[in-house]
Amino acid sequence: MKIGIIGVGKMGFSIIQGITKKGLYTEDQIICYDHNKENNLRLKNSGYRIANNEIEVINKCEILILAIRPQNFKDLISKIKGLRNYPIIVSIAAGISLEYLSNSLGNEIKFIRVMPNTPLLISKGVSAISKNENVSTDEFTRVVQIFSSIGIVKEINESQMDDIIPANGSLPAFVYYFMKAFIESSVKRGIDYQLAKQLVAETIIGSAHMLLLSEKSIDELISDVCSPGGATIEGIKVFDKNKLKEVIDEAAIDCVKRAKELNQ
Ligand SMILES: NC(=O)c1ccc[n+]([C@@H]2O[C@H](COP(=O)([O-])OP(=O)(O)OC[C@H]3O[C@@H](n4cnc5c(N)ncnc54)[C@H](OP(=O)(O)O)[C@@H]3O)[C@@H](O)[C@H]2O)c1
Repeated sequence: MKIGIIGVGKMGFSIIQGITKKGLYTEDQIICYDHNKENNLRLKNSGYRIANNEIEVINKCEILILAIRPQNFKDLISKIKGLRNYPIIVSIAAGISLEYLSNSLGNEIKFIRVMPNTPLLISKGVSAISKNENVSTDEFTRVVQIFSSIGIVKEINESQMDDIIPANGSLPAFVYYFMKAFIESSVKRGIDYQLAKQLVAETIIGSAHMLLLSEKSIDELISDVCSPGGATIEGIKVFDKNKLKEVIDEAAIDCVKRAKELNQ
């Protein structure tokens, strides 16, 4: 079996669905194990192989993806510790460091850490990745290929893996929150919900493309929308008066702080 995955909830299922949809691996090349009966039924119905336990997955795969919650690592490690051989182990858990994994399972094991995000379900994911020194360039390339098939991948220094979370892993939730606020505000003024949803979502897509493609700075792009004496600047003034940037910074700091606590 090429790929093994332990924990096939929201992220795990999105990853394997993404890579099979893209044709990188077929369903029968992926062996899965999840605690949850409903998740296993969904996997079985989708054609994936189901293992009886965590160790069976480890023994049967070349690349193992750990997509369990950080709080579940202690329990998993107690079950899989001390095996003779391990595949390349890829963890996507927030806060779980390469050092923690090496100290828990063995310094000689090949570990890769990835921070992905949910848009990988539609092949628009953004993943940050780093590896320990046991992983060869070829092995790293194979794992990068998996996440590249479902979005973009950026290699970063492992020391920044927690700091990056507000910029990709958690960001979809923050953006949805922002979008929801604008949709609800539009609805309050009598605009149809579906129309507001479409306008807000398309505008976010368009603005994101502008940021990536335009030669202008982000401040110039803001200023292009804020004609002096016009409507938009009044909204920006309210953001500034209520220190929205500081609120966002505080949210990001607390998000990173929690990720670091999860490694304890
Ligand atoms: N959600 C995101 O947007 C996002 C983004 C980036 C990274 N991540 C990371 O991705 C990981 C998974 O998040 P998620 O949102 O997909 O969580 P989730 O939906 O709760 O899925 C985790 C699954 O793993 C199962 N599980 C736990 N321990 C297991 C074990 N030993 N063997 C087999 N299955 C086990 C859980 O079953 P039970 O519920 O029965 O325990 C659950 O079904 C987390 O570490 C998170 O930090 C998530």
